Amino acid sequence: MSDHQNDNQDQNTDKKEVDAHSGVETTGHEWDGIKELNNPLPRWWLWVFYVCILWSVWYWVVYPAWPVAGGHTKGTGGYTQFKELEDSQNEIVARQKVYLDRFEQASFQEILDDPELYAFAMAGGSAMFKDNCATCHGTGAQGFKGYPNLNDDDWLWGGALSDIHQTIQYGIREDNLDTRLSQMPAFGKEGMLKNTEIEAVVDYVFSLSSQAAGHGGDHDLAKGQTIFAEQCASCHGLDGKGDREFGAPNLTDKIWLYGGDRASVFETVYSARSGMMPAWKDRLDKNTIRQLTIYLHQLGGGEEEREDGQEETVERPVEDIPDATYSE
Ligand code: HEC
Ligand code: HEC
Repeated sequence: MSDHQNDNQDQNTDKKEVDAHSGVETTGHEWDGIKELNNPLPRWWLWVFYVCILWSVWYWVVYPAWPVAGGHTKGTGGYTQFKELEDSQNEIVARQKVYLDRFEQASFQEILDDPELYAFAMAGGSAMFKDNCATCHGTGAQGFKGYPNLNDDDWLWGGALSDIHQTIQYGIREDNLDTRLSQMPAFGKEGMLKNTEIEAVVDYVFSLSSQAAGHGGDHDLAKGQTIFAEQCASCHGLDGKGDREFGAPNLTDKIWLYGGDRASVFETVYSARSGMMPAWKDRLDKNTIRQLTIYLHQLGGGEEEREDGQEETVERPVEDIPDATYSE
C-alpha cells in the first residue's frame, strides 16, 4: 500500500497540495471544488484484505479451482459436488432406514398405533401417490369419469386395509393370477339383450336410486325388474347394492363411475366398461405399496377389517364366478 501511496505522490509531486482544514495531503483529484484527501487505509481494513488474500490462496490449493488443460485443478481436499450429493443421499437413506426397518416388521395395525411410523407411511404414501397414481385418480384422489374417487366410502373392491393392499399389488383386470377379475357383459353388443330390454333395465336402474330416468324407454319398471333379476343381480345383487366380490358397483347410491345420465348408463349396459388398473407389485417395492395402502385407507372411506379377519381376499374357485364374468 505504501508503495502505491508513493506512486501517487511521485505522479502528483508538482500538484502536491495540503488541505488547510485537516492538514492532510490531497490526491490531486478534484470534483466541483471538492478535493480527495490522501488518508492512509484503516488498519482493520488492511488486515481483512490480507486475510482474504491468504484465504483465497488456501482455497485454490484445497478445493477444485482453476481450469487447466483436460479439466481443472482438483484441490488437495478431495472435494467434489458429486461426492457431496452422494453423502447427503446416504444420510437420507440412513435416516429412512431407521424407520424402514421398523416399518417392514410392523403390521398395519402396529403402524396405525405408532405415531412415528404412521407419519412415515403418510408422508411416503402421499408422495408416491402423486408420482404414480395421480395421473388416473387425480392429485387429491378425487377421481375422474371411469377412475374411481378414493376419498369416499364407496368402494368397488373394498376399503379395508387388506382389500386396498390387494388391489394395489395385483391391479384390476390385469395380467396376473391374483388380479381382481370380473367382467360385466356387453349386453347390447353381444346381443344378449335387445335395445328395448336395455331401455327397460336402465329405467329400473334409475328407480333404484330414485333418480328421474329421463326421456327414453317405456318406463315399464316391472319388465326392467325382471331383466335385472335375471341378468344383473348375480353381480349387482337383487337389491342393486353391488357386490365387492365382483367389483360390481352399488347402483342405489347416486354415485356414478361412468356417468349418471341416461345416455351414459345405456352405454354402460350396451357396451360394458371394464376399467383396468395396473398391478404395482413389480413396479413399486413392498414398503411403498404398504405406505400407499395406509395413505388411501386414511384419506377418507377407510374401513375396518372384516370379522373373519381375512388378510387377503380368499382365492375363489372359478365355479364361484357367475358365468358371464369369467373370461380368459
Ligand atoms: C392407468 C390408470 C390408473 C393408474 C395409474 C392407477 N389406477 Fe387405480 N384404478 C384405475 C381404475 C380404472 C380403477 C377402477 C377399475 C374398476 O373398474 O374396478 C382403479 C381402482 C383403484 C382402486 C380400487 C378402488 C375401489 O373402489 O375399490 C384402488 C385402491 C386404486 N385404484 C389405487 C391406486 C393406486 C394406489 C395407484 C398408484 C400406485 C393407482 N390406483 C394407479 C386406474 C388407475
Ligand atoms: C359379471 C358381473 C356383472 C353383471 C352380470 C352386470 N354387471 Fe354391471 N357392472 C359390473 C362391474 C364389474 C361394473 C364396474 C364397471 C367396470 O366394468 O369397470 C359394473 C358397472 C355397472 C354400471 C355402472 C355404474 C357406475 O357407477 O357408473 C351400471 C349402470 C351397471 N353395471 C348396470 C348393470 C346392469 C343393468 C346389468 C344387467 C343388465 C349389469 N350391470 C350386469 C359387473 C356386472
